[in-house]
Amino acid sequence: MWAARGIRILVANLMTESGETDNFSVLDHLLTIEWHLGRQLFDCVIYNTTPVRDALAAKYEECRSTPIVTGSFELNALHRFGERAIGVPLVSEHPAGRFATNRRASHRRSRRSRRASSARGSRARRSEASRRSEAFKYGLCSELYLHRSLEQMSASLAETLREKIRARRARTGVVGLGYVGLPLAVELAKAGFHATGIDLDARKVQSINDGRSYIPDVATVEVQALRSKGVLDATTDFAIIRELDTVNICVPTPLRKTKDPDMSYIVSAVEGIAKHLHPGMLIVLESTTYPGTTDEVVQPMLEATGLKAGVDFFLAFSPERVDPGNPTYQTHNVPKVVGGFSPICLQLAAELYGSAIQTIVPVSSTRVAEMVKLLENTFRAVNIGLVNELALMCDRMNINVWEVVDAAKTKPFGFMPFYPGPGLGGHCIPIDPFYLSWKAKQTGFDPRFIELAGHINAGMPHYVVDKVADALNTRRKAVNGSNVLIAGVAYKKDIDDMRESPAMDVMGLLLARGAKVSYADPWVPQVHGREWSGGYDLKAVDMTRGTIAQYDAVVIITDHKAFDYAALVDEADIIVDTRNAIKGDHPNVFKLGAPRAAGAPEGKVAIA
Ligand SMILES: NC(=O)c1ccc[n+]([C@@H]2O[C@H](COP(=O)([O-])OP(=O)(O)OC[C@H]3O[C@@H](n4cnc5c(N)ncnc54)[C@H](O)[C@@H]3O)[C@@H](O)[C@H]2O)c1
Repeated sequence: MWAARGIRILVANLMTESGETDNFSVLDHLLTIEWHLGRQLFDCVIYNTTPVRDALAAKYEECRSTPIVTGSFELNALHRFGERAIGVPLVSEHPAGRFATNRRASHRRSRRSRRASSARGSRARRSEASRRSEAFKYGLCSELYLHRSLEQMSASLAETLREKIRARRARTGVVGLGYVGLPLAVELAKAGFHATGIDLDARKVQSINDGRSYIPDVATVEVQALRSKGVLDATTDFAIIRELDTVNICVPTPLRKTKDPDMSYIVSAVEGIAKHLHPGMLIVLESTTYPGTTDEVVQPMLEATGLKAGVDFFLAFSPERVDPGNPTYQTHNVPKVVGGFSPICLQLAAELYGSAIQTIVPVSSTRVAEMVKLLENTFRAVNIGLVNELALMCDRMNINVWEVVDAAKTKPFGFMPFYPGPGLGGHCIPIDPFYLSWKAKQTGFDPRFIELAGHINAGMPHYVVDKVADALNTRRKAVNGSNVLIAGVAYKKDIDDMRESPAMDVMGLLLARGAKVSYADPWVPQVHGREWSGGYDLKAVDMTRGTIAQYDAVVIITDHKAFDYAALVDEADIIVDTRNAIKGDHPNVFKLGAPRAAGAPEGKVAIA
C-alpha cells in the first residue's frame, strides 16, 4: 500500500548471526548497504536494531576500519536520514518473525516428508497449504508493522517540528517579500524565530540586508533592530530552503488579460521550494487564489520530489488579510484563518502562526481557507458595485449618495457602509472575485453577482471622466485642451500602492479626449509609461497653494490626508471629488453621486 503511494524504502538489514558467510560476503554486504544509504535514493530507511552476535561482529570488524558497535546499526551514512531512519528488531524477535521461523522449519520438514514417502503426499500438500498461509500472515504482519512505523515516522517529524516551533528554534522562511511577505517575516522574527525572506528582486533583498524597509507599514527602525539582533535576513537563493523548517509563500496572483488566474508566480515559487524540500518541513501558501490550488497545484508539485504531504512534509493554506495603511489592524492582530492538508498539517501551521499572531481560526481544509478569502473580497466587490450603482442613480435623481450612506449607517444592526468611488483598485478586490468566477465556471456554474459587480465597477472611470466633462462645460470649456490635475494616483489613501489603480484609467480616458494630464501624489513620485495608456513617464507635481489655479480642473481620485483640501477649495476653478474628501457644499466642487452645490455657476448643460 505504501509502495503504491510512491515512498521509496531501503530495508538495510545488517546480518546479525554468523551463518554461511565469509569475510568477503560480509564486506560486500556492508558496502552495498552503505552505497545505497549514501546515494540518498530512498525516502526512508528501515534498519535492524537486533544485536550482532559476537562471532559475526568480529568478522565485520575485520573488514572495516570503523568497528561495528555490537547491538546497534552504526553506519555513518544512516545519520543522513535523520528522522526518516526507523530502527526495528529483526523478524525473529518480532511476532511476525515466528511465522518466518516456523515457515523455514515446516519447509525442511516437508522436504524430508516428500523424500520419505510419496504415500504421504497428501500430508505434504497440507503442509504446503499451511506454509502459504503462514507466508501470507508473515507478509501481512510485515506490512502492518511497516505501516505503523511510517505513521510513527510522520508523527515523529511533526513532533520534532512542533517542539522546534515552541522553542523558537524553527528556522522560518517567507517567499515573496512584498506588502504581505515582509510584514509576515518581520512578525516571525519579532516572535523569536530566525526569519529569512526569499525574493527574486535583488533590490528588495539588498534593502532588507541593509536594514531598510520599502513597505510603509514596516518601519525601517524595526528592520534595523531585527537585523542587528541577527534574526532577519534575505536572499535571492532558494538553496537556503535546505536549512529552513517552515516556508510561507506570499507571491503575486494577478489576472491574465483574459481575466484568467495567472498562476505562474506560485508555480515558479513552488518549483524553487521543491528543489530543496526536505522531510519535516511545513509549507504554507498565503497568496490569494482559487479553491483547490493547494491540493491541485502545490501538493502534486511538492510530491513529485517523492516526499508525501502529511507524511514527510506538512502543507497548509492561510489567506493573508493585510490592509496596507491601516493603523489599527496589522499582521499580528488580524485573526488568521488556517486550513491544513491533514489534521496534523493544520496543527503545525496553527502552532507557527499562533507564535506570532494573536488569533487563529482553524478551518477543516485548505479549500475552505481558500474560499474564505474569496468570499471576503467578493463581498466587498459586490457591495462596492451596489453602492456605485446607487451613486449613478442618485446622480440622476439629484440625491447626495454620501448623505444617504452616512444616515443609513446609523442603523446599529444589519447594515454595513460601503462607499462609491472612481473604480476598484489594489491587488485584491478587482482581481480575486475573478479567480472565484473562473473556478466556478470550470464546474459549469455561472457566477452572476461577480460579473455584474465587475461590470458596474469597471464603468466608474468612464463616469468620472463624463463628470469632468460636465463640470468643464459649466465654464464653457471642453476636455480637449484643458489642463487637468489628478489628485492622488495610489489605489487608496495614504499608501504608495498603484496596482490596478482607477487613476490610471481616468488619466488614459482624459488623455484620449485631448486633455493635458498631470498628477500630484505625495506617495508616488513617478508614474511609468507602462503603467497607463499614455505610454510616457510622468513626474508628480506639487499641489500646494499658489500652484493650483493653473489647472482647469482638479480630479480627486485618492483622498490622501496630506493634501491641503482648504487650498484646493480656495484656488481651484473646478474640483471633481470622487471620494467625498471635501466636506460641505462649495460652488466649485462637483461630487460623484451628488447634485451640484447651491450657488454653483450656471452652464448651458446641466450636470446630471
Ligand atoms: N497587498 C495586499 O493588500 C494583499 C492583501 C491580502 C492578500 N494579498 C495577496 O498576497 C499575495 C502577495 O501580494 P503582495 O501584495 O505582497 O504582492 P507584492 O507584489 O507586493 O509582493 C510579491 C513579491 O513576490 C516576489 N516574487 C514574485 N515571484 C517570486 C518567486 N517566484 N520567488 C520569489 N519571490 C517572488 C516579488 O518580487 C515581490 O517582491 C497575493 O496573492 C495577494 O493577492 C495581498
